[in-house]
Amino acid sequence: MGYVSDVMTPDEFKLFRDLIHNECGIFLKEEKRDFLKMRVEKRLKTLSIGSYFNYYRYVKDERNRRELSSLLDSITINETYFFRNTPQFEILRERVIPELIERKRKAGDYNLMAWSAGCATGEEPYSIAIEILEAIPDISRWNVQIIASDISWRCIETGQKGVYPGEKLKDVPPEYLAKYFIYSDASYQVSDNVKRLVIFDFHNLKHENGLTEVDVVFCRNVMIYFDIEEQKRIVARFQKVLNADGYLFLGHAESLQGIANGDFKFLYLNKGTAYQKVNPA
Ligand SMILES: C[S@@+](CC[C@H](N)C(=O)[O-])C[C@H]1O[C@@H](n2cnc3c(N)ncnc32)[C@H](O)[C@@H]1O
Repeated sequence: MGYVSDVMTPDEFKLFRDLIHNECGIFLKEEKRDFLKMRVEKRLKTLSIGSYFNYYRYVKDERNRRELSSLLDSITINETYFFRNTPQFEILRERVIPELIERKRKAGDYNLMAWSAGCATGEEPYSIAIEILEAIPDISRWNVQIIASDISWRCIETGQKGVYPGEKLKDVPPEYLAKYFIYSDASYQVSDNVKRLVIFDFHNLKHENGLTEVDVVFCRNVMIYFDIEEQKRIVARFQKVLNADGYLFLGHAESLQGIANGDFKFLYLNKGTAYQKVNPA
């Protein structure tokens, strides 16, 4: 293996920062230089490439799209767990799902679609699936789809397996634990009736994915890494894919202030927050 320089120069940092920003919307500020250096260095070692600049040229080459995927994968933050932010799951359980199913039953429409955009390793879409199973006793009449998308292949593979260590389940209510998980080999397997509702999909939020008629979007703790222009574009896309009166959940440190004024109304219930689409007059 060749020599890897100890220092990532300011120009090299900018090259990688702009490449990552263009490709997936994540904007790494100056204080993230060490973080980026460490992640890039790991890729250099894996490929036995001796300098940051040579790696940059390699990863920019259209023929090496897989390596670009691996680089993006390596800089994503995939922290997540089941029922993260329980007040939001209370809104989902107590308001959103009952309202949606009542409205749809009246219209004779038995389709229900949720999208977990930036789902990481799958705990979020599976938590949504569990709430839907709890709320709909005649589930076999319904066509329920929970699209779980992420830019990280590594995460998608974990999600598809649906096997998790105990620490990811600390906020799972005990009755759900008994009902929807199988304990084996010191980990928890999500049961088949939950898994069946979730479809994992590799998708970069910078691009369209053709979804329409979505009832609920969860995009939590994802946009926080994007700049404001990218956030505006993504929220405009959510607004377009959502059904009339559809719902949008963001992370606790995220809001639509200055991003989508007037397109969504803010909901606050028992410390949980969400947004509901305002339909054009
Ligand atoms: C911190 S996790 C959030 C997981 C989950 N939504 C939650 O709140 O627990 C952020 C996820 O967003 C994904 N992500 C980042 N940029 C993305 C992009 N451009 N397109 C799709 N997913 C992206 C990352 O790979 C990561 O898995």
